[in-house]
Amino acid sequence: MLRIIKFTCENLEDNCVTDNKSPVFRYVLESTNNKATIKKAIFEMAGWLKETTDVSVVYDGAELKPFTKYNLKVSVVDSNDEIARATLFFETGLLGEPWVGKWISDKKYVFKEKNNSPKVMVFKKKLVLKADVLKAELYSTAFGIYDVMLNGKKIGGRYFAPGFTSYKSHLQYQTYHLSGEIKNNDELSFVVAGGWAVGSFGISRNNRISADRQALLCELHVVYKDGSKEIIPSDDTWEVSEKSSFLEADFYDGETYDASYVQSEADFHSASIEMVKIKPQIEAEYGSPVIKHETMLCVFLKKDSFGRLIYDFKQNFAGVVSFKIKNARKGQLITIKHAEILTPKGDLNTLFLRTAKATLKYYCKDGEQVFSPTLTYMGFRYISVEGIKQEDIEISAYAIYSNIEKIGSFSCSSEKLNKLQNNICWSSKSNFMDIPTDCPQRDERMGWTGDIAIFSPTACFNYDVSRFLKKWLYDVKAEQAKTGGIPNTVPAQGYGFPTTMPLMAIDFWGDACVLVPWAIYQATGDKSVLKSMYKTMRKYVNACAFWARFLSFGKNRYIWDTLPVFHFGDWVAPDVSKMQQWQARSKWTATASLKNTSMTLSKIARILDLKADEKHYDRLANKVSNAYVEKFTNRRGRLLNEFQTGYVLPLYFKMFNTNEQKEAASNLEKLVKKNNYCIGTGFPGTPYILFALADNNKVDTAYKMLLNTKCPSWLYEVEVGGTSIWERWNGLNQKGECNISSDGTGGMISFNHYASGAVGDFLYRRVAGIEMVKPGYKKSKIAPLLGGGLTSAEAQTLTPYGRIKSSWKITDGEFNIQVEIPVDTECQLTMPSGRNINLASGNYSFSEKY
Ligand code: BGC
Repeated sequence: MLRIIKFTCENLEDNCVTDNKSPVFRYVLESTNNKATIKKAIFEMAGWLKETTDVSVVYDGAELKPFTKYNLKVSVVDSNDEIARATLFFETGLLGEPWVGKWISDKKYVFKEKNNSPKVMVFKKKLVLKADVLKAELYSTAFGIYDVMLNGKKIGGRYFAPGFTSYKSHLQYQTYHLSGEIKNNDELSFVVAGGWAVGSFGISRNNRISADRQALLCELHVVYKDGSKEIIPSDDTWEVSEKSSFLEADFYDGETYDASYVQSEADFHSASIEMVKIKPQIEAEYGSPVIKHETMLCVFLKKDSFGRLIYDFKQNFAGVVSFKIKNARKGQLITIKHAEILTPKGDLNTLFLRTAKATLKYYCKDGEQVFSPTLTYMGFRYISVEGIKQEDIEISAYAIYSNIEKIGSFSCSSEKLNKLQNNICWSSKSNFMDIPTDCPQRDERMGWTGDIAIFSPTACFNYDVSRFLKKWLYDVKAEQAKTGGIPNTVPAQGYGFPTTMPLMAIDFWGDACVLVPWAIYQATGDKSVLKSMYKTMRKYVNACAFWARFLSFGKNRYIWDTLPVFHFGDWVAPDVSKMQQWQARSKWTATASLKNTSMTLSKIARILDLKADEKHYDRLANKVSNAYVEKFTNRRGRLLNEFQTGYVLPLYFKMFNTNEQKEAASNLEKLVKKNNYCIGTGFPGTPYILFALADNNKVDTAYKMLLNTKCPSWLYEVEVGGTSIWERWNGLNQKGECNISSDGTGGMISFNHYASGAVGDFLYRRVAGIEMVKPGYKKSKIAPLLGGGLTSAEAQTLTPYGRIKSSWKITDGEFNIQVEIPVDTECQLTMPSGRNINLASGNYSFSEKY
């Protein structure tokens, strides 16, 4: 039987509201028959008909109309003449129509304090409706983050709308369907906190970055049952106040909430029309909004020395607590603090949150009540609760993160590796907070480019992140400096480090503009992401090449040294402990990075049929490779200055000739053995070290490193109880206590940083053996790499053509593998003996003696 398991518009199955005039439609298949291929797929919508053999089409029919609901159908016929059908609805938003609503704010509110967030603004409007309502759609956005309410009740499940974008260029608006729910005299209100645009944000905690105070823009489109229509826009007939239950709301510091406050007593006055200082393009939400996911339960640990109740959620995650209390008195203050770790005495250790207070203060009303904050979030595992008896509070939490679908899984016979995979997923979820962030707890939570540059391949196996990451890439594009540099954090949102930024191109971090689109393309086969990012990538690689050649001659010609001024180098490499030592490795990491980005760009140019570019960047890549080998090695595969990343990058990026490659792999192996199979790589080398070993006949060493539990290693973190991936390999000691005090790295000790979880790519591609050969897995390989004493492994991920799965086990001297190959694709399966088997789509099982 042929079945469509997913049918999407702009990658959403439901509730898509788009301003894209050429939306993309996709379907994903499943078949119980082997060897099924697609004969044809017919898409149909409002008189538009498109036949294809592909799994996606770009709409190219008559111009879409704004504010319109469309019904799309697809029917797919396969090679067995089986038919599968699916339908979906999507809607258009404003589609470029001018807003009738005006930006409104409170001109009486002057907010000038430094480093904190503004008072929360509440906007309200009593609706005067002329007749019974058939349909009502609310379109809204803000500078700041907002919750929208109908008669005081929150509408929808989003957190932090309108989301985080490069506000100077673009801003999302949301659509809420209120049809049938609203009636005359209802009250529509918005609570708008500072968020990223106005509140304190970034390491330096600047505020008012995009606007001097919050502002709201909305319009309610009403269709009455009698057929008449009306638009109720934001304007000066709305009322505003800075008095509400929300006394404070800030991403880093938390929320202060007074449940006893009676909103009707607030000093509401007329809202004022706001002259906003930036004018972004306003577009229907095109990202993956933050919503509630898992409900997290906790256990009570103890009362600390101050009488505070300490709870453990047993999992480090990003989210918000939720509680139910009884026997409360009006005005009673409950204080909840959050932390990732405990001190040796068992109290909260909040030292590494730096300036983030991560505190929830709640003033009770009388009696029973429930609460969960909506205008902040924390990264935590433990909380302390003060101001209430244990028996009077029931506490849990919600993990909140972007609405991304889990599409992959990995497990094997090692429980520790399974835990590592679980930790990788938790750190992904904790840092997919509308944008890809570095960490969810301390005073950063920023879109650090280097972290996602190296992590995106792993992310693409576990989650469908294409919509989420494409939104962010739109910001990357918008934020590129004229000279080609990409800010270290995107959206930069006031973070101007280093100050020479406008000039800069920074290896690995800036590489995100090439590596992230490339990862999405490989996982999905979606060329549009390459097309839309091509100019940005090209400009960036040109800038890198410019700086590599700048004032350098002879042997140094393509060595990208520290010019212009700054690189991160072998960031957080554990074999050296100082930031300066990581940075001192920049010329190796930057030069290798340039080889990688220019090589990748050449491949992309080929895909986009840009022949001259293809050649040009290929030549550049070769020149850079030669320079690396000339300058840094003895030409026989030995680095003059040896360190793990120094070998890993040229090995993985194929910068050596065959003999050098062999020698370099042996030299890397020696280094690894000398280091007791412990990790010595920073951000640039960590994703690739196991490939550099395993793909060069050092499988045993690669597995010893992967399975090592000595510090620093991936499984050391697991061994000492880590529930997420850490920023620093030696974050906790054997007893689970933090063992880094002040080591000159500015308190960079986060326990929820996905970067080194980039090893997830190796788990899928080598341990389970699933490898994409043609983008989107149109062609794939399954070749499990046996070793490390593992007796089984299983991984699967959802490709655009359907599920690909590899599940192998070794029992009684026999190797057995079961595979699932997506519809309309081919796969080459390689058995441990080296036997190759070519497969079309379907489910298969093979065995051989092992
Ligand atoms: C962040 C990193 C980031 C780095 C850049 C840190 O503070 O947390 O993950 O990439 O700075 O150096």
